[in-house]
Amino acid sequence: MTAPKLALATTPAADVAADAIVVGTVQTDAGVALAAGAESVDEAFDGSLVEVLAALGATGKADEVVKVPTLGKLKARVVVAAGLGGLDDDGEVLPEQVRRASGVAARALAASAKHVLSTLSTVDLQAAVEGTVLGAYTFTEYKSDAAAPELAKVDLAPPAEGGTKEHKATLKAATAIAEAVAITRDLVNTPPNDLYPATFAERAAALAKEAGLEVEILDEKALRKGGYGGILGVGGGSARAPRLVRISYKGAKARKKVALVGKGITFDTGGISIKPAPNMEMMSSDMGGAAAVVASVVLAAKLKYPLQVTATVPMAENMPSGDAYRPGDVLTMYGGKTVEVLNTDAEGRLILADAIVRAAEDAPDYLIETSTLTGAQPIALGNRTAGIMGSDEFRDRVAAVARATGEGGWAMPLPDELRGDLDSRLADLANVTGHRWGGMLVAGIFLREFVPADLPWAHIDIAGPSYNTGAPWGYTGKGGTGVPVRTIAAVLADIAANG
Ligand code: BES
Ligand code: MN
Ligand code: ZN
Repeated sequence: MTAPKLALATTPAADVAADAIVVGTVQTDAGVALAAGAESVDEAFDGSLVEVLAALGATGKADEVVKVPTLGKLKARVVVAAGLGGLDDDGEVLPEQVRRASGVAARALAASAKHVLSTLSTVDLQAAVEGTVLGAYTFTEYKSDAAAPELAKVDLAPPAEGGTKEHKATLKAATAIAEAVAITRDLVNTPPNDLYPATFAERAAALAKEAGLEVEILDEKALRKGGYGGILGVGGGSARAPRLVRISYKGAKARKKVALVGKGITFDTGGISIKPAPNMEMMSSDMGGAAAVVASVVLAAKLKYPLQVTATVPMAENMPSGDAYRPGDVLTMYGGKTVEVLNTDAEGRLILADAIVRAAEDAPDYLIETSTLTGAQPIALGNRTAGIMGSDEFRDRVAAVARATGEGGWAMPLPDELRGDLDSRLADLANVTGHRWGGMLVAGIFLREFVPADLPWAHIDIAGPSYNTGAPWGYTGKGGTGVPVRTIAAVLADIAANG
């Protein structure tokens, strides 16, 4: 993607020769009202902007965009009023409301305006930057006739409080966060004939090296030598051999060590336990967790978090073939635990087991793992709320952060009684139960078997939230969403600040 250039506005909104000016509207009991930042625009309308908007049917509700021609009242030709929704009990607008309204405005303008000034940033600069960049995101790599995106420049009116230096730092950090989300979307949106373990590993390594990070790539031979039975078992059926990528960032004065792990199945056919044909193409997004942790460790370096962060990323393609692993196989995972494979479509947990055991060898203080792990996740929580499992305290902390970022997430239990259902006739455990109850939790319980007992850890199941098959909404278009990069970034920031 090519993001528009963002800069802090230095002149009042009404004097800027932009193509469009974005103002925020809010929903109140008395009808539509203007959000902070729209004052100079309203003055240019002689204080009648609300009346004009109300006459056009604006209510200020979320997802609403109403365009008003300025007819020479301002330098810009059009005012775009983006709905923020209602105010909370304290009369405040939440950052996520600004992010979504900025995204809706960016989507509405992306094809028609070159230069836009947004006043939504006066309410929340970071959210406006993230929403604008992500709303403007498009993936046209595979369109033969794609024109360059029209929207090239966005000026952001600074908030009233804080100085320019502080605003510049916020702009820079928010841009880096939005770029990390966009990188994740790009990887998820790249089709599986071009993004397979070897090429995914190369792209991850290139991103890491650009940020000055250390990279280690284990190829098939090295995986065999190392005893990575889960990754080799799952990856065996594909002509495109698996990889394990490790990317390490060590910040100056690192306070804590955080291990990141993400599922990198570049395509999931289900293997010999093959999936039905309808919607199988969606399984090109089964590497969304891997993409997110790659982008997150690179982001941690760019934002210079005082942490040590290592991403351990297993990559494999789950294919049926004469070399494929079968239901009935017993795999010896990295570290020596054995797993009876009863369903080759429960492949994510197998490559993750290897990666988790490897990641834990570094003795991290925290482990954050994220995966498009189960179809049961969207059944339980829908497509926009990740399921968050793990050790009680850290799980709750990650879930709270996930909600604060606007990405969404909910703590889910790992009920002990389900562990017995993974008992195997042959091996230490089986990869599936004989029933379909609590499928998301069962996967979490499987992973727990590979996490050291005293390590605070979180497993974020993003099967639904990482990929949008519905209509665009807020700052989220169709395809890869980049979830949970902002959650991981915020958890890392929280650990950097509070230990
Ligand atoms: N990649 C899928 C999970 C998935 C489903 C992600 C839908 C995104 C959307 C995973 O590998 C899988 O196939 N899980 C199985 C597990 C089952 C065999 C226990 C599932 O959820 O059906
Ligand atoms: Mn599967
Ligand atoms: Zn899968």
